[in-house]
Amino acid sequence: MNGTDTDTFIEWMSAAVPGSLGKLEKEARAKGVPVIRKSAQSFLGFFCTLLKPDRILEIGSGVGFSALLMRNYVCCRILGIELDSDRAAEAEKNIREAGFSDDIEIRCADAADVLRELAGGEGQDGAEHFDLVFLDGPKGQYLQYLPYIEKLTREGGVLAADNLLKEGEILRSRYAVTRRNRTIHRKMREFITEMTRSGRWQTMLIGDGDGMLAAVRKPDAAPDTGTDRTV
Ligand SMILES: C[S@@+](CC[C@H](N)C(=O)[O-])C[C@H]1O[C@@H](n2cnc3c(N)ncnc32)[C@H](O)[C@@H]1O
Repeated sequence: MNGTDTDTFIEWMSAAVPGSLGKLEKEARAKGVPVIRKSAQSFLGFFCTLLKPDRILEIGSGVGFSALLMRNYVCCRILGIELDSDRAAEAEKNIREAGFSDDIEIRCADAADVLRELAGGEGQDGAEHFDLVFLDGPKGQYLQYLPYIEKLTREGGVLAADNLLKEGEILRSRYAVTRRNRTIHRKMREFITEMTRSGRWQTMLIGDGDGMLAAVRKPDAAPDTGTDRTV
C-alpha cells in the first residue's frame, strides 16, 4: 500500500468535518483554494490532543481552515501568517464568523519577515515560544525558515510540516524528476536531511497524503564547560 492508497482510505474512513467548518472546507475545495487533506487534519488533531498547546504558530494560513480546525481541537491562541492579502482577508472573515477573533490572529505578510521579527523578540532567549508550529507555506522556503523555527519552538514542542514528499516525487532520484521540479526536489531533501541529522529535532516522516513530518524540539546541548575532561 503506498501513501496515495493510505490517503484515499483515510479520506473514505474519516468523518466529515461538521458544521460551518465543514462548509468552509467544501467551498474552499470547490473554488480550488488549498486546504489540508484528511490525513493532515488527523495529524494536527493528534498533536493538538496530545500536546494541548497554548500557543500555535501557523505558516501559510490560506483562508483560515486549518487554524480554525486546530482551535476546534484545543482551546489555544494561534498566530497565522498568510502572504496573499485576499486569502488573509477571507481568513479573518471566517475566523470572525466562527467567533474566534480573540484567539486567532492572522498576519498578512511574508512569513520570512514575521519569523525574523518573532525570533528577535524579547522572550526567554530573545524569542517568543510556541508549543506547536504548523508549517504549510511555500515549500521551497522551509530550510530558510528553520533557524527561526528552532528558536521559536519551545523545548519539547512540535514542528508539524505538510506536503513534504510532493506525492512521492521527493522520494525519486533527481534524474527521474522533470528539470522544472529539480530545485524544489533539492530544497525539500535538504530540509529533511537537516531535520533528521542536525540533532536538534526528534523527527518522524509520515508517507500519508503529500507526506508529513513531525518533529519534537530537543533541548539544546548543554555548553561544554570542560569539567568532565580527563587531562
Ligand atoms: C497550502 S496553503 C495553506 C492552507 C491552510 N493551511 C489550510 O489548510 O487552510 C499555503 C498558503 O501559503 C501561502 N504562502 C505562500 N508563500 C507565503 C509566504 N512567503 N509567506 C506566507 N504565506 C505564504 C499561500 O498564499 C497559501 O495560501
